Amino acid sequence: MQIRQASESDLDAMWDIFQSVIATGDTLPFSGSLDRDTFHAHWFGAHAAYVATADSVVLGMYKVGPNYPDLGSHIASATYLVSPSAQGKGIGRALVNHSIAQAQSNGFIAMQFNYVVSTNTLALKLYEKLGFSIVGTLPKAFRHQQLGLVDAHVMYRDLQDA
Ligand SMILES: CC(C)(COP(=O)(O)OP(=O)(O)OC[C@H]1O[C@@H](n2cnc3c(N)ncnc32)[C@H](O)[C@@H]1OP(=O)(O)O)[C@@H](O)C(=O)NCCC(=O)NCCS
Repeated sequence: MQIRQASESDLDAMWDIFQSVIATGDTLPFSGSLDRDTFHAHWFGAHAAYVATADSVVLGMYKVGPNYPDLGSHIASATYLVSPSAQGKGIGRALVNHSIAQAQSNGFIAMQFNYVVSTNTLALKLYEKLGFSIVGTLPKAFRHQQLGLVDAHVMYRDLQDA
C-alpha cells in the first residue's frame, strides 16, 4: 500500500469511494444529495488530498488543511474515507498517521475533527488510539438513519508533542 498526493485523475475513484461510504454507513453528514462538482471543490480546494493505493487501485483517501482560515489557520482538520471493501486492513490507521505527519511538517500545531458521529465507534477508537481526545460533544447533531438524533464529538490532538 502506498499513500501519495491525489491528482485530478483520481477523481472518479475518489467519487466512487465517497458514494459507497455514504451508501453503507451513518458516518458522515452527507446524503446522496451532494453533487460531484461540490465533492470536487471540497477535495481539491483549500485542503490537500491524498490517496492510498495498492496495485494502482485507489482504496482510501484523506484531505488535510486548515480548520479555519486566517487567525484559525494554525489548527488542521482532516477527513478520511476507506472503500468499504478495503476497511479493517489498516488503511485508515495509515492514513491518519500520514495526515498527522503532513500536518506537523506543514507547521500546524494541532489537529481537530469537528464532527465525529458518536455511533461511529470504529473511527472514534482509531482516533483515540492515535492520540485524539473528545473535547466537546454536540448534542443531537446527526440524524442517524436507524437511531434518530445522535451526538457528534469534536476531537483534538496536539501536534507539538512528538
Ligand atoms: C474510519 C475508517 C477511515 C477507518 O479505516 P479502516 O481502514 O477501516 O481502519 P483500520 O483497518 O486502520 O482499523 C482501525 C482500527 O479499527 C479496528 N477495526 C477495524 N475494523 C474493525 C471491526 N470491524 N471491528 C472492530 N475493530 C475493527 C482495527 O483493528 C484497527 O485497530 P488497530 O489499528 O489498533 O489494530 C473507515 O472505516 C471509514 O472510511 N469509515 C467510513 C467513513 C468514516 O467514518 N470516516 C471518518 C469520519 S469521522
